[in-house]
Order: sequence, then C-alpha cells, then structure tokens
Amino acid sequence: MTEIIAIANQKGGVGKTTTTINLAAALQQMRNHVLVCDLDPQGNATVGLGVGAADFTVSACELLLQECEFEQAVVGLAAEGSKYRFDLLPANNDLTAAEIQLTRQSGCETRLRDILQGLPKNRYDYVLLDCPPALNLLNLNALTAADKVLIPMQCEYFAMEGLAALVNTVRQIQDSVNPGLKIEGILRTMYDVRNNLSLQVSRQLAEHFGSQLYRTVVPRNVRLAEAPSFGESILTYDADSRGAIAYLGLAGEFLRRRQSAASTPAPAI
Ligand SMILES: Nc1ncnc2c1ncn2[C@@H]1O[C@H](COP(=O)(O)OP(=O)(O)O)[C@@H](O)[C@H]1O
Ligand SMILES: [Mg+2]
Repeated sequence: MTEIIAIANQKGGVGKTTTTINLAAALQQMRNHVLVCDLDPQGNATVGLGVGAADFTVSACELLLQECEFEQAVVGLAAEGSKYRFDLLPANNDLTAAEIQLTRQSGCETRLRDILQGLPKNRYDYVLLDCPPALNLLNLNALTAADKVLIPMQCEYFAMEGLAALVNTVRQIQDSVNPGLKIEGILRTMYDVRNNLSLQVSRQLAEHFGSQLYRTVVPRNVRLAEAPSFGESILTYDADSRGAIAYLGLAGEFLRRRQSAASTPAPAI
C-alpha cells in the first residue's frame, strides 16, 4: 500500500523542502520505495535533488494539466545498484501557469489524487509532497491527495498562529474533499537549544499536540543548508553531520509510529 504524506506549512522557509528531500532519502536508505512530488513552482526540491532543466522535458505542470503521462514526467534518482526506488516528479516555474489553467478545469482539486491513485499500489511505499508556501490550489491538491500531513515548523514568535491557520485548513479539507486526512506529526526544525523562545514554543506544542509532536528535533545545521547546492541529500553530503543524524532519527520515528499504529488505533487529530 502507498501512503501519501503532504509536507506542508503555508509559511516559507520553515524547512519543508529540506525535510522532504532528507526524509525521502532516509526512508529509501531504510529499504522503502519513495516518490517525491515537487509541488512548488520554485522547484527547490527538484534542484536540491540535483535535477536540472536538461534532465526533464515535462514536469508536474504538464502532468497536472493532463498533457502527459506520469511515466513521462517522473525522474528516477535511486543510487546505482539500489533496488529501492527514489523517484522525483520535478517542477519548475511552469507550475505557476498550471495552477491558473487548472482553476478553469473541472475536478481541479482532485487532479493529483486521481493521478497518484492510478499508480500500481506496490510501486511506492511513501509519496512525499513538497508543498508551496501558500494556501493555493496546488496546496489544496496536495491536501486532497494526502493521507497525512507532516508540518515542519520553526519554534519562533507567531509560529503557533501559523500552525492554527494550517490546522483550520486541514479541518476544512476533512469536512469536504478528504475526510480521511490526518495530521501525521509536527516537526521542530532549525532548532536552537540555547534559545528560550524555542523551549517555550516547544512546551506549548507538546501541550497542544501531545504525541503528534515528533520527539526528533532537527537542529540548525549548516551542512543541511549546503547539501542542496550540491544536488545531494544530507545522507550522501555529510552522513556524520547532526543534520543527517536528525533526519535518520525522524525516518526511524516515522516508521516506528507505523509499526505501533498497526497494533493500536490511530489517534484522532
Ligand atoms: N535544520 C536546518 N539548519 C540550517 N539550515 C536549514 C535547516 N533546514 C532548512 N535550512 C535552510 O533554510 C532555508 C529554508 O529551508 P527550506 O527547506 O527551503 O524551507 P521551505 O521549503 O519551508 O521554504 C534553506 O536555505 C535551507 O537550506
Ligand atoms: Mg520549499
């Protein structure tokens, strides 16, 4: 069975793309078949995974507009010799135009869901959707297609307000197009233990979200910021860095939640 996880937060610069790339790489290293869908016209996940303009002719734009097939748009990234898939649906600035055109088409908010549901169930274990920093039609497509939402956030002033807005959006989507949508977890990113505000916000998050808050915390780590400019995940760029250890820890926690969820009912959000 394929599980679809939207990595979402309408705020920019909170670590969505960094989390998508590195969680995907860690899940693949732990023997899972993974697909990353870049749904941000900025194409940061695409570039950060080392996929340039010359590597694809059609992308998420054409796929969402039904101008190409999934097989034409998907790019394979798996390390040579690995039998575990790591695929990318790339995106670039064309996606901005796609969003506008898509608005005029019927079934526009379920387009991504329809595409992903058409894939063979054993092809991917996890599909990670790297969402744009907005609550737009692309984000709506992601939240409609997703089983779960993973929310990366920085523990700073105003973070809780942004989180409340996102949780509201998730509720609206549950009440309309996707009743099964759940919050997978809240991930603290760019965490600085020396900062008092981080500790305060952390405490509030733990009170509000309980076990939905990941125990894994991603520290501020310059190696994580450097890796995308080499088109690499942190696991190949610097496997011993604190960033790599954090994302491997996150993948471990992510997979353990699934093992225990198999024996106990999933918590309501
Ligand atoms: N844990 C981290 N430590 C240091 N820099 C980080 C970390 N996570 C992300 N960054 C950097 O912060 C910026 C924003 O992160 P990004 O993942 O692109 O956020 P988003 O996708 O939410 O806009 C990028 O330059 C990225 O390299
Ligand atoms: Mg991003």
